[in-house]
Amino acid sequence: MTEKFLGNKSFRVADHTVSASCPSNIALIKYWGKYPGQIPANPSISYTLNHCKTNTTMEFCAGKPFGIQIFLAGKEEVKFAEKMEQYFKNIEPFLPWILQGNYTIHTENTFPHSSGIASSASGFGAVAKCLMELDEAFSDDVRTQDPVQKASFLARLGSGSACRSLYDGLVVWGETREVAGSSDLYAVRYPDSEIHEDFKNFNDWVLLIHEGEKSVSSTAGHGLMKTNPYAERRFQEAHENFAVIRQILKSGDMDGFMKLVEHEALTLHAMMMMSDPAFILMKSGTLQVIQKIWDFRKETGLSLFFTLDAGANVHLLFPENEHSDEIKSFINANLMQHTQNKGMVKDVMNF
Ligand code: PMV
Repeated sequence: MTEKFLGNKSFRVADHTVSASCPSNIALIKYWGKYPGQIPANPSISYTLNHCKTNTTMEFCAGKPFGIQIFLAGKEEVKFAEKMEQYFKNIEPFLPWILQGNYTIHTENTFPHSSGIASSASGFGAVAKCLMELDEAFSDDVRTQDPVQKASFLARLGSGSACRSLYDGLVVWGETREVAGSSDLYAVRYPDSEIHEDFKNFNDWVLLIHEGEKSVSSTAGHGLMKTNPYAERRFQEAHENFAVIRQILKSGDMDGFMKLVEHEALTLHAMMMMSDPAFILMKSGTLQVIQKIWDFRKETGLSLFFTLDAGANVHLLFPENEHSDEIKSFINANLMQHTQNKGMVKDVMNF
């Protein structure tokens, strides 16, 4: 076995295979709009999902010419590999050894690609975790930063919302005076002691209303916020909503929570409609489901509500408690018919 040197460390060629798993997340206060260097225009907060994950294995052959080959669920993805090569080049200032070798990456999601569940969040989260494991072996630097925080920092540079996936529970990205230690550069866990028990055991059932490609990517959507005349007001409102959600999380105000989370989802999509050019990612099924949720809530008073990502699918949120069976029956009997192929992904957030 050949000995190679990188920095002042020696290691055996082709010996470094690392693996990591990272979940996706769903935002409650949304990140939509950014500044250069992947700096968010406003703070965001999300739940990290328990089951929807990306599992990644990375084989690093140090000393070989830089290049990346990626297999997604066993199938080679050349375009994806090109993007990943660009990402690795971008983060070289923070991982100086990173371009000094060749990578073979095998990755797979535990959820369907078409689900609209953010695979970029779990995917970049898993890659960043793998890189931090390699950093352990190859970096000469004395660690000054917590490795999870650095993984979050690196994941952010791949896909902004990915930085929140490195932590469990409720996670904040973007500086806000409401959360001590919050930063634009990496995510932090929202303090557990500030969260009422009712928010610590939640369901997220994702109704797959539309399984095709999105007509506008989130990168393009963020870009359109630059010329959106309502952008500044929106960024300010997100800050204001942090003060509101802080009180809600502490007190257990479920009605306030539902109102705020739905408002955030609708604001995200309103921003899309007010962009130039305008675009709409919701489908008729999205609107029909929203109406049915509102009717159900009016009739029963039960806590079923929704959020939306940058897509048509509806995340059905409801606490796990003595009423959840009734809510689940309602969903199965009344909302499944709006999915494209009877598609639904069931996840939970408990911590
Ligand atoms: O991380 P990106 O660039 O894919 O943007 C994600 C944007 C939303 O999912 C719509 C909101 C969020 O905060 O996750």
